[in-house]
Amino acid sequence: MRLVLVGPPGAGKGTQAEFIADRFGIPKISTGDIFRSNVSGGTELGKQAKEYMDAGDLVPDEVTNAMVRDRLAEPDAVSGFLLDGFPRNVSQADELNGMLASLDVALSVVLDLDVDHEEVVNRLAGRRTCKKCGHVVHVEPDAVEGGACPKCGGELYRRDDDAPDTVRHRLEVYDKQTAPLIGFYRDAGLLVAIDAFGTVEDVTERAISVLAQYAES
Ligand code: AP5
Ligand code: MG
Repeated sequence: MRLVLVGPPGAGKGTQAEFIADRFGIPKISTGDIFRSNVSGGTELGKQAKEYMDAGDLVPDEVTNAMVRDRLAEPDAVSGFLLDGFPRNVSQADELNGMLASLDVALSVVLDLDVDHEEVVNRLAGRRTCKKCGHVVHVEPDAVEGGACPKCGGELYRRDDDAPDTVRHRLEVYDKQTAPLIGFYRDAGLLVAIDAFGTVEDVTERAISVLAQYAES
């Protein structure tokens, strides 16, 4: 399966990506996670991305597209993948079509996690992310920093771009630049939307049940 997950910041893309990728045996490719590990590792790519991420803006397309092109060429992505956070605008979607055409493959489906802005603001206020493995959890919004990741024991932290003003800006960026992808993929006959309200387990069940038909046997 070659799957793209779309949805606003805080919709649960990263949360659901872990379950979906496990269930269908495909690698999860999250551009946000790749950028964050480059920022914490102090690489040249991390230095290029950091100022945009901290402001809640998109990293320039040429940087992001080159990174995804390299990642899709790795052996584990040959027979399928889940993209979380890419494409993020119509120009990146055009670029992705070109990358896949050059590999002689095509997208199977684009899954839109449908949730409103009020809910995502609440979700992001309580998000903590693992420094080591990127796993995300939700805590009471006023909880202090720290704590251990339930998956790997790594340190949990609050992402810099989860500050309330930055979240507001990320939602504006989503509305202007990313939301047009919904129509783009609907016109291409690839879009499937699910209701992303409810418990994590409920959303996973909805996602897996609509995606099952796209899994190759
Ligand atoms: P990225 O890391 O992709 O961030 P995002 O799209 O803003 O999405 P989030 O990771 O904030 O939300 P999510 O949907 O994954 O939600 P999550 O599962 O964590 O990108 C960060 C930055 O990198 C960008 O701003 C940009 O600068 C750069 N970037 C990345 N890709 C790029 C690209 N293609 N082009 C250019 N720049 C790019 O869940 C959120 C919280 O909700 C968690 O606490 C979770 O536990 C909780 N939660 C999840 N599901 C539920 C539920 N059902 N009920 C209650 N709580 C829930
Ligand atoms: Mg995420």
